[in-house]
Amino acid sequence: MVEKVTINDVGPRDGLQNQPVSLSVEQRVELIGALLGAGVGHIEVGSFVSPKAVPAMAGTDHVLAALNNGQENGQDGFSVLVPNMKGYELARDAGAKCVVMVLYGTDGMAQANVNMSRSDAERVMEQILRQASADGVRVLGTISVCWECPFDGPVDAGVIAGITHRLLDLGADQVTLADTIGAASPQRVRDLTSMLVNKHGAKRLACHFHDTRALGLANVFAALESGIRFFDASIGGLGGCPFAPGASGNVATEDVVMMLEQMDYDTGIDLPELMNASRLAGRLTNNAPGGRAKIWLERHFNKNSDAGKQIHT
Ligand code: COA
Ligand code: ZN
Repeated sequence: MVEKVTINDVGPRDGLQNQPVSLSVEQRVELIGALLGAGVGHIEVGSFVSPKAVPAMAGTDHVLAALNNGQENGQDGFSVLVPNMKGYELARDAGAKCVVMVLYGTDGMAQANVNMSRSDAERVMEQILRQASADGVRVLGTISVCWECPFDGPVDAGVIAGITHRLLDLGADQVTLADTIGAASPQRVRDLTSMLVNKHGAKRLACHFHDTRALGLANVFAALESGIRFFDASIGGLGGCPFAPGASGNVATEDVVMMLEQMDYDTGIDLPELMNASRLAGRLTNNAPGGRAKIWLERHFNKNSDAGKQIHT
């Protein structure tokens, strides 16, 4: 039986938050539409953060409104990132049905990102979970800097295990382990993911890798081997955190889908259509690196051509 792997495209949030130019709401919705058109069922469509901190994410309420009013109505795969209770309330009031709250492996990263301590962020998460349960909103937790922090250095796996346990215990639907600066290696990914999968099962765990050291796909592979079946990735390899020095783009969605197809996993994503979304990301931002396999993928899936729809070549 073909096994499914779910891809959550975080390009419209992690990717666009870090561009030299901010996209308009219409452009953001166009990119999300292109991802939906390629069959990407889970998309992080923006964030409710301070517009002073991240100007490019201002207007996420309008993005949600456009998606909810448009033909995408009914999509339950949209999520938005929130850093605090205010962000949660704004997201809920804008019609979000699923929020991603960020937790931290270190105090250094928590301070830089949200001006809180690591444990304050956990307390806020607890309040958000309680409120969201009353509001009927799903909550996912993402743990930033699970392997290494640009401020505090290597992160102890025991700390991440503790946060994961707490989050799942409190009722978060899913916990995503994030390599925010792309400093993880396949062996360390294997160590952490296998430990957590053994303890909690893989169903509520996910991974988020950046490709800073060209290890993005290798890290996805290591996590797959541990049983993880849900991955964040970003169209065109866009991405990076403005508050984490050294972070480059996320592992590109097209690279991850290509590898998974070659391994006979079912992602439900149409790779030629995904390449159209990747080209659009490039055109809109003028700054998308594209995946590591960009040249090969472009050659095989160039627009208007069916040649190469078979990738087992
Ligand atoms: N959305 C929009 N505005 C927010 C907000 C949110 N989630 N949280 C706070 N604010 C506003 C406050 O209302 C206040 O506005 P005012 O100056 O008009 O009174 C202002 O931001 C400062 O609020 P404060 O609580 O003192 O926050 P801060 O200055 O300590 O900043 C965050 C904290 C969390 C708001 C800010 O650091 C942030 O938005 N970080 C997000 C970083 C991010 O997106 N990183 C990448 C994704 S992980
Ligand atoms: Zn990221």
